[in-house]
Formats: sequence, C-alpha cells, structure tokens
Amino acid sequence: MAVIPVALGGRSYEVQVARGLIEDAGHHLAPYLRKREVPVVVDANVRRLWGARIEAALAVEGHQLRWFEVPPGEGAKSWEWLARLTDWLLDQGVERGDHVMALGGGVVGDLTGFACAILKRGCGFVQVPTTLLAQVDSSVGGKTAINTAAGKNLVGAFHQPSLVLADLDVLGTLPPRELRAGYAEVLKYGVLGDRAFFDWLAANGAAVLALEEAALEHAVATSVAAKAAIVAADERETEDKRALLNLGHTFGHALEAETGFSDRLLHGEGVALGMVLAARYSARIGLLTAPDADKVAAAVGAAGLPASLSAIGLDCNGKTLVAHMLHDKKMDAGTLPFILLHAIGEAFVSRDVALADIAAFLDEELAR
Ligand code: GLY
Repeated sequence: MAVIPVALGGRSYEVQVARGLIEDAGHHLAPYLRKREVPVVVDANVRRLWGARIEAALAVEGHQLRWFEVPPGEGAKSWEWLARLTDWLLDQGVERGDHVMALGGGVVGDLTGFACAILKRGCGFVQVPTTLLAQVDSSVGGKTAINTAAGKNLVGAFHQPSLVLADLDVLGTLPPRELRAGYAEVLKYGVLGDRAFFDWLAANGAAVLALEEAALEHAVATSVAAKAAIVAADERETEDKRALLNLGHTFGHALEAETGFSDRLLHGEGVALGMVLAARYSARIGLLTAPDADKVAAAVGAAGLPASLSAIGLDCNGKTLVAHMLHDKKMDAGTLPFILLHAIGEAFVSRDVALADIAAFLDEELAR
C-alpha cells in the first residue's frame, strides 16, 4: 500500500492507494465515524457495483450506511441536487464533527465536498473515488463545486477531505474509454513536472492501462504524490504552482465547449489533446524542441487518446475555439493564462500569450 500525506497543517490528511481498501473500509474509516449511521453519497451505477461490499465492510465495525443516490452524470452537480443533498444531510442529523462519505467519481466527490463545505458552515467528509480521474485528481486537494447556467465549477469552495481511499480494485469495473481518459491526468503529472515519470509511463503505460497491480499502484501513487506536493505548496492557487495542474485544460476547455461538453469528447480526452496542443504551441514559439512535442503526442496517442485535432473531427476554425476560451473561468483581469512547456517536466504559467496567435496556431493544427 502507498500512503501519501497531503500536508496542510491542521487540514492535513492521507491518501491511501492499494487494492482491497473497500473490502477493509470499516477498519480504515473507523477513526472518522462517531455514529452508527454513516451518510453515503453515490450514483446508481457505483452503488450497484460496490454498495453491498462497502455495506458489509462497514457492518464489521457496527456501522450502517444511509444512502443518498444521485443520477449518474454531470447533471448532479447542480443547485437542485445540492439543495436536495444538504436537506437530506440535515434530516440525517449530520453535525460538524461527523463525516459524510463520497463514493464515486468526480461528480459525486465535487457535489458531496461542496455540500459538506456549507453544511453547518463545514462538516467532515471522506472520499472513496471510483474512477482513475477522481483518484489522481479530483478527490485530492479540496476543490469542490457545482455547475451553473453560466458554466462548469463556477460555484464552489475549497474544502479538504479527512481521508481519501483510492482502491485500485474499482478501476477494474471502469469502461476502458473512461480509464484512458483518467490516464490523461496521470500523463499530465509527468509532462508538467516529472520527466522521469513521463519516461516511465512511456515504458509502462500499457501495463498501467492493463491494470497490472504494481504498475497501476506506482502510477496512481506517483500522480497523487505530485498533486499532494503542489496542493501543499499552493492550496488556493494563488502562486502559479497549483495552476500548473491546468496543463492542457485551456485548450481542452475550448474543445469540450465546441463538442458541447458531451460524450463526443470526455474531459480527460480534452485534457490529453490539450496537452499535445500546449506542447506543439510551446514548440512553435521556440520554447520546447519539436522532438519533445512529438513525444508528448506519441505518449497521448499510445494510450488510445486523441493526439491531433483531426482525430476528433471538428468543423470549426481557430477563432471559434479561441472564442470558447474567453468564457474559461481561468480568465484573469482580461488575460488568459496558458500552461506552456520549457521542456517535458518543466511547465510554467505564461500570461503574455496573444489569443490571435493561438487562433492562427489552431488553424494550422486543424489543417494538419
Ligand atoms: N484539478 C485541478 C486542481 O485540483 O487544482
């Protein structure tokens, strides 16, 4: 088992990464559970796959689960479901010192975390992430949010969990496309800050995607450790450190918007292609070598993720994609920060990128 500390003073916690954590969840969660009844937020798919097992694991310690089911998909990150969940938690008599369990992917984690951030001005929660993306990204670091009519994740709070149990067994029930989309965020940690990890993934990525235990544990634990270090250094994204985690996200956001935030392009697929575009743009302006940009594209392509704009069949031009970027929540005082690369493993925040230049670059990439 890997145990990764997230060092945040009085808000510090551990992320445990191993197989079998759900089977033993009663033991792992016991220190956080003061009452017999434990509120759990879940969607129907995850409950069907893991509900009975976690119920049995908690029963060993004398706990009984109280389920709150949300519909699968992004729609649950809404005012409506936030209101329903907070009302339900109040009905359950949840107090500040209690812990709510988020059992699911990023949607369940973000909604539950936000509900717990505002319930009685803040109660505890634990994350049991059930997707690769949630294990290596959204369950760690305390960003919680819902979506509104104006856009995604625009209303939320920083609220750290008390424990994260990343059980590798759950990844065996993920659809392969979702696994690959989560792998994009794993690859991101190599590209943004760890050349050795990037090279390790080039050699071992197939084993990770085949869920071979040692490779998978190393990939998840290394990703979580990278995120934990960044979060510990810049919890609230005020110092250009946490912002590096947005590598690929500005281009990716435009691609997701152009494809209607739909199944045409999953978030991780947008990030993967966005990373390739960030690398190619960095090479175009002379920051990164062309062979290194090609290596980023090759790593993305080798994982079965889209590595060029032609792979996703867009019918638009660079200007249209840049127009989507202007609605990005990362817009800051009229400028849009881009995460670019000096080298693989050396990302930085650039604030002087001309959007007209990005539009011209995207036109070239669309014609590639
Ligand atoms: N997913 C980016 C962050 O947690 O900052």
